[in-house]
Amino acid sequence: MKILVIGSGGREHAIVDAIGRHPQVKQIYAAPGNGGTAGLATNVSIAADDIHGLFEFARNERMDLTFVGPEVPLSLGVVDLFQKDGLKIVGPNAANARLESSKSFAKQFFREHKIPTADFWPCQSAAEAYARLDSMRYPAVVKADGLAAGKGVVVAETREQARAAVRDFMESGTLGTAGSTVVIEEFLTGEEVSFMVFADGESAQPMVMAQDHKRRFDGDKGPNTGGMGAYSIDTILSPEQHDEVMRAIIRPTLKNAVNFAGILYAGLMITATGPKIIEYNTRFGDPETQVVLPRLKSDLLEVLFDIAEHRLDSRKLEWDPEPAATIALVASGYPGKIENGKRITGLEKAGRQEGVKVYHAGTRMEDGSVFTSGGRVLNVTARAATLTQALDRAYAACEMIEFEGKDYRRDIGRKGMAKKR
Ligand code: AMP
Ligand code: GLY
Repeated sequence: MKILVIGSGGREHAIVDAIGRHPQVKQIYAAPGNGGTAGLATNVSIAADDIHGLFEFARNERMDLTFVGPEVPLSLGVVDLFQKDGLKIVGPNAANARLESSKSFAKQFFREHKIPTADFWPCQSAAEAYARLDSMRYPAVVKADGLAAGKGVVVAETREQARAAVRDFMESGTLGTAGSTVVIEEFLTGEEVSFMVFADGESAQPMVMAQDHKRRFDGDKGPNTGGMGAYSIDTILSPEQHDEVMRAIIRPTLKNAVNFAGILYAGLMITATGPKIIEYNTRFGDPETQVVLPRLKSDLLEVLFDIAEHRLDSRKLEWDPEPAATIALVASGYPGKIENGKRITGLEKAGRQEGVKVYHAGTRMEDGSVFTSGGRVLNVTARAATLTQALDRAYAACEMIEFEGKDYRRDIGRKGMAKKR
């Protein structure tokens, strides 16, 4: 079989790695891929948002299945384009991808279907937004409506900060059209959980849960990033809370979306009054995938074919109970300005350590050497019998890898360790 994976992050390296375990996979292509996928797949230099280029490639090379990693091609309709021509592809169509690509659409959907979420006010103009901010309690949250790669959300402690966010998004246009509508939201407190499910249009199967660490610095300080690390353990939610999420959030969403097929990722806040949805992503989380897929004992590719052929209900997913943790090694300066092209050493030694797997994110391979090519460079992942051991293994491996400007958070998984597992 020939499989195409669209994307180039740590998430896609983990997906390519999991697909490659299927015995009948002859060839995997990653578009555009990174220095890690280069070792397992053939990297093809087609950008993830060049949906017509991807379509031509998949058709000419006769792909048996295409899997979409990131949100942008989904929102551009890559799934619709492939399916129109009968090409097999896993991911939601553009209409369903709006659950991620338009926050105002998603929030209206939650309201209409009584899915618990923070109270909100969509605003089409800056004047409307400023007026709303005058009557908010603080902190309050200001969100750009469209896709903004994690840069479109401001948790404002004061009205002045909230006004500055509105000014940036709506008046200065820092995010382009993504910021021409904003959603102002009530601030929720509680613990955040990444809750992902496989969905085939009719039935859904939950994955093991994970927690991301979005802030740049230890102690959840500093700016939001694409994710500085994550862990996955089975005790993030109690069984009752898990049932509640499926009943009150996931099932009504899938029932009211039309044929949602692919991965639905609920970013949840577990509040004092129960779980609420902060946002949906319509794809695998990054870096959550790097701790969830290593725990999947079932064959990922078979699950993906089940989704494409709408027979997911017949599969019993098996998960490894062992916790997993991943640490993002980032370039100094991230999430601001960074320098690329630093040579990375120690990857082989780190990857040989027990339970450790190093996923590449912003890297590229050149003449057999690996160089940095992005802010989030590597996701050093480890599994072990306990979360504490998994973190110890991951951090020890982080020390074995070197590149100029290497940095990482030292407190990934602290909250999880408090859950004693
Ligand atoms: P998002 O990009 O929508 O996932 O938002 C980024 C982060 O902002 C979330 O992970 C939360 O930590 C925070 N956030 C977003 N909306 C809210 C809210 N209504 N209340 C509290 N925190 C929020
Ligand atoms: N980990 C957050 C995301 O994938 O959007």
